[in-house]
Amino acid sequence: MNVLVTGACGFVGWRTASLLIEEGWSVTGIDNMNDYYDPRLKEYRLRDLKGAGGDFRFLKADIEDFDALSDVFKTDRFQAIINLAARAGVRASIEDPFVYLRTNAGGTLNLLELARGHGINKFVLASTSSLYAGQPMPFKETLPVNEPISPYAATKKSAEALSYTYHYLYGMDVCVLRYFTVYGPAGRPDMSYFRFMKWIDEGHPIEVFGDGSQKRDFTHVDDIAKGTVLALQKTTGYEIVNLGNNKPFELNYMIGLIEENLGKKSVRKESAFHKADMKATWADIGKAKRLLGWSPSITLEEGMKRVAEWYLENRGWLRDIRL
Ligand SMILES: NC(=O)c1ccc[n+]([C@@H]2O[C@H](COP(=O)([O-])OP(=O)(O)OC[C@H]3O[C@@H](n4cnc5c(N)ncnc54)[C@H](O)[C@@H]3O)[C@@H](O)[C@H]2O)c1
Repeated sequence: MNVLVTGACGFVGWRTASLLIEEGWSVTGIDNMNDYYDPRLKEYRLRDLKGAGGDFRFLKADIEDFDALSDVFKTDRFQAIINLAARAGVRASIEDPFVYLRTNAGGTLNLLELARGHGINKFVLASTSSLYAGQPMPFKETLPVNEPISPYAATKKSAEALSYTYHYLYGMDVCVLRYFTVYGPAGRPDMSYFRFMKWIDEGHPIEVFGDGSQKRDFTHVDDIAKGTVLALQKTTGYEIVNLGNNKPFELNYMIGLIEENLGKKSVRKESAFHKADMKATWADIGKAKRLLGWSPSITLEEGMKRVAEWYLENRGWLRDIRL
């Protein structure tokens, strides 16, 4: 089975492609290696994938570019697509909503159209817990998600809607995975846990939006990768499935874990809470258990220990990573 993983040098794409390679799949990874955050992290992940020794090839390509993407489909035959390429920051989406629309909605449409044209019947789409803003917790997949509060969430909603259309019109098997705050080693430097680790270690004040009492259902990237691979194998029709830890923690608790692992104390600088951010997220994962046989296995305590170990091993080159 040959699978196309978009955003393969991204945080989730990297671990998902790794797991697929480990399980013996043939994997083509594409990524445009943009500089939304420091591309050295993407290059680090790519080196890791290339060194994994499995059936993996990488092409630098942009999912916004239909013609370039068509060439990828001409040279390789795929049985399935996992679309993880996206612009993924909530606050950044307010600064440049246009690129979010082009990549998250337009790019997904390009992939769906190419899947249809090449008879590829399986499509896995990464979506987000951000769609549940304003809904009662724990968030269930059946809740209405009609009021996205950021361009990021709105463009993910568009991608979900387009995927449904391709399922409806062409019978494509689509699984939409709504991920909840993914964390882990070699993660995204725009995410709070990564920045806090670096700032605390380097003795800089940490910028916390609000008082740190906001809660997130932090989910380890290796659990997310497992769920994503299961979705490839186990769903048919059109399904929306939450992948979350089902155990929300305050940001303050996560900061405490970083301090403990580094043996250093943080100094805080509080900034205003942004209205496009959510106060709390909490996944109902009953459907993931039932449909995929998936449940998370890595606790936040263990997961943050692994993040700190990775950070300390790589501290040298991480020193000049832009946050
Ligand atoms: N990390 C999280 O907490 C989280 C939570 C919910 C949903 N998600 C979703 O999971 C997916 C992966 O997120 P991530 O955290 O790995 O983000 P990431 O930014 O690390 O990975 C995305 C990758 O896609 C690539 N990319 C962006 N635009 C592209 C384009 N036009 N063409 C080709 N490649 C492009 C980027 O270079 C990057 O390597 C995204 O769809 C994101 O919206 C992530």
